[in-house]
Amino acid sequence: MAALVRRCAADPELLSLVPAAPAWDVPHRMLAAVEYLILAGEAEDYRSADDGWASFRSTVAARRAWVEAFVRERTVQTNEPQRSWALLPLFLTVARAAAARLDVVELGASAGLNLLWDRYRYGYAAGAWGDERSPLRLRGDERAAVPADLLATEVDVRRRRGIDLAPLDATSEEGLRTLLAFRTDLGYRTRVRGAAAIVRAEPPELIAGDYVELLPDLLRDRDGSALTVVFQTLSTVYLADERRDRLRELVERAGREGPLAWISTPTPDEHGQRRGDYPLELALWPGGERRIVARMDNHGTWLEWLG
Ligand SMILES: C[S@@+](CC[C@H](N)C(=O)[O-])C[C@H]1O[C@@H](n2cnc3c(N)ncnc32)[C@H](O)[C@@H]1O
Repeated sequence: MAALVRRCAADPELLSLVPAAPAWDVPHRMLAAVEYLILAGEAEDYRSADDGWASFRSTVAARRAWVEAFVRERTVQTNEPQRSWALLPLFLTVARAAAARLDVVELGASAGLNLLWDRYRYGYAAGAWGDERSPLRLRGDERAAVPADLLATEVDVRRRRGIDLAPLDATSEEGLRTLLAFRTDLGYRTRVRGAAAIVRAEPPELIAGDYVELLPDLLRDRDGSALTVVFQTLSTVYLADERRDRLRELVERAGREGPLAWISTPTPDEHGQRRGDYPLELALWPGGERRIVARMDNHGTWLEWLG
């Protein structure tokens, strides 16, 4: 793919599709546009063509206006269900501490696949958790094991809401294809398809907009018969510092006003470390002390449970 992008960058015809001051993710968008057409059965898969570059180029030439619009309008959109594997022990910690039904709110939910975390089947060294018949099974590499007693926790999720600037509808062909187009590895595509099958049966509520603006209203209307759990993975990293501070303040204010849980991958800046891994932070109000209870990598393929 890197070789392909370099050829695009040296090709005046392909470059003419890119805005004059391109955003960092324009190469991803260009590749995803062609992937989308391949997934739709509207273009040859250039990877299996005799001359891959010629095939890629002729797809772009044949659908020039469409590719140009895709590159201009579509920011990178992925949704990684594997992150639920790393998040589950935190959700179970909250459920065990609160002994209440949960209302979950995801910030930067994309297609909301991780809002269905309690519908997946999980494997950990100490045991399994979740529905045995689930079409999505998630495992990973535990660098420090999740305790067996935590995996005995049951949960009851009552409501699921996600906020995203550009939510994707994984129940539609077009939405699912868009999600798949931005990553080509088979593992990701299998997970997304499995999660989308569950989302189709039980679609979460997806709200379009900026969560820094919308979250205060959602938190103001909390219903005391369930514990609201706000969570986010790899989304606040896109916020400017002052907006990330605002989000932190509004969550803390809401915590002072009533029971609330917070689960998040803080950015390396917030944590003063740059190891390329992501701490997983948990806070529960009343109290609200933020603790790092685990670490994971970008996609949640490994987890170090700290407890
Ligand atoms: C890298 S994706 C992660 C998606 C999902 N959380 C996951 O872990 O698979 C980041 C998401 O955050 C969303 N996002 C970024 N800033 C946002 C904001 N201020 N309000 C709402 N959504 C936002 C983007 O639209 C994108 O879908």
